[in-house]
Amino acid sequence: MNQTLVLCKPDAVERGLVGEIISRFERKGLTIVAMRMLTIDEELASRHYAEHVGKPFYADLVAFIGRSPAVAVVVEGPEDTWQIVRTMMGTTNSAEAAPGTIRGDLSALFTENLVHGSDSAESATREIAIFFG
Ligand code: RTP
Ligand code: MG
Repeated sequence: MNQTLVLCKPDAVERGLVGEIISRFERKGLTIVAMRMLTIDEELASRHYAEHVGKPFYADLVAFIGRSPAVAVVVEGPEDTWQIVRTMMGTTNSAEAAPGTIRGDLSALFTENLVHGSDSAESATREIAIFFG
């Protein structure tokens, strides 16, 4: 089996959409194998979003991701589960995300796009260690 990291971001918790989001992965046939609620502080954000440190949107991203609790989830499934999850999430900009995806159905904003999913097998391994190591 193969694992990936999902974050239900602060907007998902604030809007009461954690159950909806996790339910979609479960209905797809994926399995929740670990879950943890936490507030993502600046230090944790800089490790998780290391590839974005220094980018113009980074300060807004850190402020958003840490403004209230998030839920970190390890999702398990078949080969390349990270890719299944990313397809279900939709594109980064929710305003353009396809109907049927989490972002496409439930958000119309850019930064506040409800979910994070690891973007490769390597990212999945790295990010699971950050949140559950
Ligand atoms: P995530 O990492 O959160 O799952 O999102 P993603 O892979 O779809 O997008 P990524 O490029 O990794 O960007 C991380 C988060 O930063 C915000 N962002 N803002 N204003 C901008 O140009 C911009 N680009 C990215 C979004 O909140 C995105 O989810
Ligand atoms: Mg990303």
